[in-house]
Amino acid sequence: MSASDILVIGSTGKTGRRVVQALRERGASVRPAGRSADVRFDWDDDHTWEPALTGARAAYIVDRQDQPGEWDAEAQIRALAKRAVDCGVERLVLLQARTTGLVGGKNLSAGERGVRESGAQWTVLRPNWFFQNFDEGVLLDAVRAGELRLPAGDGREPFVDAGDVAEVAAAALLEDGHDGQVYELSGARALTLAEAAEEISRAAGRTVVYTPVAHEDYVAELVSYDVSADYARFVADLVGQIRDGLNSEPTDTVERVLGRPARDFTEFARQAAAAGAWAV
Ligand SMILES: NC(=O)c1ccc[n+]([C@@H]2O[C@H](COP(=O)([O-])OP(=O)(O)OC[C@H]3O[C@@H](n4cnc5c(N)ncnc54)[C@H](OP(=O)(O)O)[C@@H]3O)[C@@H](O)[C@H]2O)c1
Repeated sequence: MSASDILVIGSTGKTGRRVVQALRERGASVRPAGRSADVRFDWDDDHTWEPALTGARAAYIVDRQDQPGEWDAEAQIRALAKRAVDCGVERLVLLQARTTGLVGGKNLSAGERGVRESGAQWTVLRPNWFFQNFDEGVLLDAVRAGELRLPAGDGREPFVDAGDVAEVAAAALLEDGHDGQVYELSGARALTLAEAAEEISRAAGRTVVYTPVAHEDYVAELVSYDVSADYARFVADLVGQIRDGLNSEPTDTVERVLGRPARDFTEFARQAAAAGAWAV
């Protein structure tokens, strides 16, 4: 397969941005797409799909099922995968999440079947929680405020670097040998939220604590901040997977695919602190 014209959906996001960079570093011709990109792609407007897909040889697909509101991941990803194949796209790499069972009533692997059955070469990525939730994502404000209040109990999570996920995605998009693979991607060690907060405190030079809260109290807390009840439950259930240790076993997939160890949380925290992510 030629390495030209790789469509990256979600190119402004935590992995998509890094996939664009990893592909460019490897000399590939990249087509970053999104709601605000030059190449428009909006899951909620399927008129944008065909122009984005046409002429691309491979596509990195980030869905939007972790956002508030109804969205039929299975139907949407199936429809996109079919459209991609009709447009001549030969290889699809789909980002999902390493979760177990239902999360807030949703199966977060629901999109996989549509890609597997599309007729294209496919690879599915199922990462654990990203390091970058702490310095650019959903936990950033809490870290800056000095307290992570979450219903994660003493559960452990093998947080993974979004950059490692992106490098695995780039390998799957550019190289042979990844067709038909489901890659569960984690860091090399599982941390409790208390340990993550300690690492961040040490790196940032100020105290960040973790306070475990009860599941229902957390839902009520989110609702008090005007989050819809459905979405609050979804987020609480997602964090509850950490508490219940459902995906806590580290995998060696990053090292197997990239031929080097997964990036460590300590190094991530040091670099994020040095970049000023947690300065207040
Ligand atoms: N965060 C984690 O720890 C984690 C772990 C495992 C798996 N995941 C999975 O990764 C995916 C993204 O999560 P993330 O944390 O990386 O989010 P993120 O950084 O906010 O990225 C989401 C991306 O999706 C794009 N997007 C949102 N709505 C869209 C729409 N209607 N049409 C087209 N593009 C849209 C956003 O682009 P614009 O807003 O610029 O349009 C952005 O580029 C989710 O499926 C999640 O389940 C996340």
